[in-house]
Amino acid sequence: MCMEITNVSEYEQIAKQKLPKMIYDYYASGAEDQWTLRENRSAFSRILFRPRILVDVSNIDMSTTVLGFKISMPIMIAPTAMQKMAHPEGELATARAASAANTIMILSSWSTSSVEEVNSTGPGVRFFQLYVYKDRNVVRQIVGRAEKAGFKAIVLTVDTPRLGRREADIKNRFTLPPSLMLKNFEELALEKMDGTSDSGLASYVGSQIDRSLSWKDVKWLQTITSLPIIVKGVMTAEDTQLAVQAGVAGIVVSNHGARQLDYVPATINCLEEVVKAAQGKVPVFLDGGIRRGTDIFKALALGASGVFIGRPVVFALAADGEAGVRKVLQMLRDELELTMALSGCTSLEQITRNHVVTESYSNRNLSKL
Ligand code: FNR
Ligand code: LAC
Repeated sequence: MCMEITNVSEYEQIAKQKLPKMIYDYYASGAEDQWTLRENRSAFSRILFRPRILVDVSNIDMSTTVLGFKISMPIMIAPTAMQKMAHPEGELATARAASAANTIMILSSWSTSSVEEVNSTGPGVRFFQLYVYKDRNVVRQIVGRAEKAGFKAIVLTVDTPRLGRREADIKNRFTLPPSLMLKNFEELALEKMDGTSDSGLASYVGSQIDRSLSWKDVKWLQTITSLPIIVKGVMTAEDTQLAVQAGVAGIVVSNHGARQLDYVPATINCLEEVVKAAQGKVPVFLDGGIRRGTDIFKALALGASGVFIGRPVVFALAADGEAGVRKVLQMLRDELELTMALSGCTSLEQITRNHVVTESYSNRNLSKL
C-alpha cells in the first residue's frame, strides 16, 4: 500500500522507482559536480525566520498579480522539457493542474505537446518559454503560434547558449524516446534528437540553438511579437540593468535548476542583488530548489514577486499524473499559508525583509533593525 504523501520531496523517490533510469537521471541531474544543485537547496536552510506574534491570522490572502493577471498564489510552474517522458498526458496534465489551482504555467519550447494542444485543455494563463533557433524563421513561426494559441508572455531563456554538461545524460546516452517528439517543431522537421551521440539533447542544442544570442536579439524579439517578454536566467545586477534597459516585462532569477553553469550561487543568494538593481521597475521572480512553503516565504521576504517550481512537477507527474501536480501545488500552497500564519502575515505585502535573517549575517542584520 502506498504511504500518504506529506511533502513535495517525497514524489522524487516514487518517480525514481517508477521511471527508467535514463529519464529519471535527465530530470534529476545538475551540471558537472552538481555543487550548485545541492546549494540551491542548502542555501534556503541558512535563512531563518523572525516571526511576529499575536497578529490576527484568521484570514490569509495569498492572491497576487503577475503581468496584470490575477492568480491565487505566488507559486507558478517553471518550464520543464519533455513531460510525456514522465506521464502519457505530460504537459496537458500539468496545464490542467495549473488551471485548477488558478496559477500560471510556463510551457517549454521542447514540450512533447504542442502549444495548440495545451491551449485545447481549456482556459488558463500560460506563458511560452522560448529557445532561439539559429534559423529565425523557426522562431518567428513558433512565437506566432504561441501567441495565436493564447499564450500571454514569452519567457526567453538566456542561460543556455550551449547545454550544461550533465554527466548522467552522457553516460546514459540520453535521447528522447522514439515514441515521443518535440511537438512544436514537428512541421519543421526539428522534432527528433539523434540517438547516437553522448547526450542527444546536448547535440540538438549544439546544432540548432543560436549561441550568438545577445541583447540585440531581445530587441528583435520585441519586433516580432506584441507579447511581453520575461528573461529567465539572470543572476547579476549588471544583467538586471541591461534587462531593464532592454524593456523586458520581468526577470526570473534562475540558474536553470543548476543544470547549466556549475558553481554559480544558489538563486536565493542572488535574489537581493537583482531585486535591488531592478529598482522596482520590473517584477523579479525566482526559481531553483523551491520544495517547501518556507522556501517560498523566504524568497518573497527577499523581494521576489513569485516563484516557479521545476522538478517537483515532473516527479509528481511521474508518480500520479495530473493528480500529483495538483497535490504538489496544494501542498506548497498550504505550507506557505501556514508559514504566513506562524510569521504573523495575512497578505503577501506584509511579508518583509525583517521577517527573515540570513544566518551568517545575522548580527549585522539585527543591528540594522
Ligand atoms: C528544466 N529547465 C528548463 N528551463 C527552460 O527554460 N526550458 C526548458 O525546457 C527547461 N527544461 C528543464 C527540464 C528539466 C528536467 C529541469 C529539471 C529543468 C529549468 C527550469 O525551468 C527551472 O529553472 C528549474 O527546474 C528550477 O529548479 P527546480 O525547481 O527544478 O529546483
Ligand atoms: C534542460 C533544457 C531542456 O535543462 O532546458 O534539460
